[in-house]
Parts: sequence; structure tokens; C-alpha cells
Amino acid sequence: MALPPVHFFSHGSTMMLGEESASANYWKQCGDEALANNIKGVVIMGAHWDARGTNRIDVAMNPTPEKSPVAYVHPSKYVDYKLNPDLITGKRIIGMLNDAGFDARGNETFDWIHDTFLILIRMFPGGCPPTTNVSMNARFDPHLHAKVGSVVAKLREENYLIIGTGGSVHNLYRNHWWQMLRYSDNFAMPVPPGAAMLEFRQSVEDVFIRNCGAGIKKGALVNGMTRLMKHPQYRDAHGSDDHFMAACFVAGVVDACEGLADNGCVLGAEDWELVNMCNSQFTVGKWVSQKA
Ligand SMILES: [Fe+2]
Repeated sequence: MALPPVHFFSHGSTMMLGEESASANYWKQCGDEALANNIKGVVIMGAHWDARGTNRIDVAMNPTPEKSPVAYVHPSKYVDYKLNPDLITGKRIIGMLNDAGFDARGNETFDWIHDTFLILIRMFPGGCPPTTNVSMNARFDPHLHAKVGSVVAKLREENYLIIGTGGSVHNLYRNHWWQMLRYSDNFAMPVPPGAAMLEFRQSVEDVFIRNCGAGIKKGALVNGMTRLMKHPQYRDAHGSDDHFMAACFVAGVVDACEGLADNGCVLGAEDWELVNMCNSQFTVGKWVSQKA
């Protein structure tokens, strides 16, 4: 059986749901490949849902979640899309996390937010696969989120597709909003991105690409990703920590999976938005059928 790759997707602004882009095409391509390889389901961590408390992680267990409204996107793009919460796998993941020392709990009232369903709609426009939505922890400890990744990583052996959705450079305070607010043009780049954004974006790419490959020391990706939070430009690139946790989660998955990183990592697509937000899409590993 082909083992699935692992994705770190930068979901960008809400308009990434409604507007066409290289990232949107790549998400669809990744979804098509996942369906062609008969994934059992999706396990996803986003950037907009955090659980409060020491070691607390929530798992979405609402059987009929609503979707929160998506600003600057026509409702026809998402209102009728049916989410497919995987409560059986959710229960399993709660058990796996608790066995690993987390305070994991089911959340039966949580409604889903665009950080996750934007990606699901783009990847799987024909219908949502069974999906388990796992929260962040509100203390935004990068090592804790890497550990969450390492716990759920074994589900990959059962053909679950694991996705983290956050951002490589995602600081709403640094974005230039005028072109979007006035002209609905989220991709306008009247001036180049700031130097700090360019620098940090390159560092994220370097960490992903250079810490995946044959013979690279186990744990290198987690070390590199968590250390990026000490990068001199980190706080310029991320005004808050929420959109970086999914990268740490993905790194934890990768480092826990024997051989996954041997096939390397690709930067599958990238779109700059709102001048200073960089939406980089990374995939670690390949479906066997894709191997050269
Ligand atoms: Fe977001």
C-alpha cells in the first residue's frame, strides 16, 4: 500500500477560498491524488481553534458542525459544502493523545472555521472525506504541537492523510488591506513584501527542504521548525503564534514516520497576498506512484 505524504498548507486570507491561485490548484491536485490512493480519512490541525489548559487538546466531536461565515467570499462557495466529521477516528485520537499524556477531550459543540474547511473545499470539491479536526493548545508551545503530530503520525500507516493548515508568513498586522477592502484584490502587490517577510519565508523553505531527504538525522525537522520561533524575524512574520503551530505539528508527524522524509519535501505552490503574507504550500513525502 502507498503511504500518504504529509502537507503543510498556508491558507492565507479568506479570499483564498473564492479566488483562483496557484495554491488553490495545488490543493486540488493534492486532493485528487489522495482520492486516487483511497485515503481512509483526513486528520487536520488548523490555526483558529485552540484549547485552554495544561496539555489540553480538543478534538471536534460535533456530528453536525456549522461553518463559520467567511468574509469576502460569496456564500455559494461554501455554504452548501457538507462537512464530514469522523467521530470514530476522533474518539481514537482522543484515546491516543490521552495515552501519550495529553488532556485530550471531545468537543461536541465546536463549529468549524475556514482554516480547515477552506482547504477541504479546495482539495475535495466533490465531497469531504471523513475528517478529524484536532485543536491547538492555547499556550502555543511548538514542542507540544510537534508531540501531537508524533502521536497521530501512526494513523498514516492506515492511509489517513495528515494536514496542518497555518501560514509560513502570516501577520495580519503587517498586511496591506486596502486593495482587498477597496477592490477585492487580495493579490495586489503595489509594493514588494517587507525584508523581514522575505527573510523569514526563505527560512521556512530552508527548514522544510533541507531537513527532509535521505540520510538526514531523525528529529532534524522538529528541531529546525521549533527553532524558527527564535528567528530574529519571527515576530515580524507572525504577529501571533497560532498560524505557526500547524508547521510544528507537521514536523512532528514527519519525524515520527520512518522513511517519510527520505523522499524529500517540495514547495508545491506559493502565493503572496496582501503584500506581506506568504502562502507557501509544502508536501513532505510522495505517494509511491509518484516516486521517480
Ligand atoms: Fe487563518
